[in-house]
Amino acid sequence: MKNENKTRQYAAITAVGHYVPDKILSNADFEKMVDTSDEWIRERTGIRERRILENGATSDMAAKAVENMLKNRGIGPDEIEIIIVATVTPDMLFPPTACIVQEKIGAKKAWGFDVSAACSGFVFALVTGMQFIESGAYKKVVVVGSDKMSSITDYTDRNTCILFGDAAAAVLLEPSTDPNLGILDHRLYCDGSGEKYLHMKGGGSLNPPTHETVDKKWHYMYQDGKAVFKVAVIGMADVSVEIMKRNNLTSDDVDYLVPHQANLRIVEACGKRMGIDPSKVMINIDRYGNTTAATIPLCLSEWWLAGKLKPGSTLILSSFGAGYTWGAILVKWSIESPKG
Ligand code: COA
Repeated sequence: MKNENKTRQYAAITAVGHYVPDKILSNADFEKMVDTSDEWIRERTGIRERRILENGATSDMAAKAVENMLKNRGIGPDEIEIIIVATVTPDMLFPPTACIVQEKIGAKKAWGFDVSAACSGFVFALVTGMQFIESGAYKKVVVVGSDKMSSITDYTDRNTCILFGDAAAAVLLEPSTDPNLGILDHRLYCDGSGEKYLHMKGGGSLNPPTHETVDKKWHYMYQDGKAVFKVAVIGMADVSVEIMKRNNLTSDDVDYLVPHQANLRIVEACGKRMGIDPSKVMINIDRYGNTTAATIPLCLSEWWLAGKLKPGSTLILSSFGAGYTWGAILVKWSIESPKG
């Protein structure tokens, strides 16, 4: 266990913030768009509504989330050293969305880059950001998960369109020498054989945009939901249990499971496998759907704002997504509750 080393520098989450667009797309709205029903969507996914960004791009949501996070920390943008944006819906293939965010928030001294790991994007980016802090080279690293999933959703495909929404959320990483605060352990995985079940075929170097790629709808995401469902349950549950075992944690030791919100049934199965009481599983999929890289930090931000997280709270962040990619992170929460 890493936290036995008292001289180690830990990456602590010292601030959190989020942004969700105002426009709500409800299940009733989908009943008018495709052959579906509110009942089917709620029973099969747990989703009631999701947010849609009508104007703007992924960077706009990311910038607002970072600004809210900075306000919560009480510091200005010029203190940020690195910005890492996890996204599968970058504003453009290049430049990196992180650079656009840097310009929008005026973080003049920061450099940055994007991480593309689909629904595991935030987890992979958080572990990446952690390295810069643990190495001692940097003191303020921003990690943002931001996705405008509505920009790659086919709203005539009932299999996928009901699942996704738009949102962004950000955390700040800073060094801590307290072995009981910060990111303590992680396990990350990928399996490229999953590519055929969850992907967006067009727009990259394999299938550059043509009239044909547009006609074939290759610029929208494709998912074989049933195939992904099975591996997502196993992947998320296994890695979460693995992180508990590696750190000798019982279900009583875990204050919250912070799962990627892809489907309520996957989230509940994961909590069950870990033996965790349902009240300790963060769930907001009912209000936002699957916001890809934003789901996990959005949960963190909402639960912190609600005063449910306290310094020392033990959290397991867990994700599964396209690639396949999956992973879990053990975090000791560091921020005082805003409610005192
Ligand atoms: N409304 C009504 N019926 C729908 C529907 C909708 N929105 N979407 C699919 N259906 C139909 C299907 O066409 C199918 O009909 P059929 O039996 O006549 O072919 C039936 O419902 C059952 O479909 P199935 O795919 O078995 O449903 P499911 O219980 O697996 O739920 C998902 C579908 C997509 C919700 C679910 O598979 C899922 O959440 N998958 C994984 C998502 C995930 O974890 N992604 C990873 C990270 S993003």
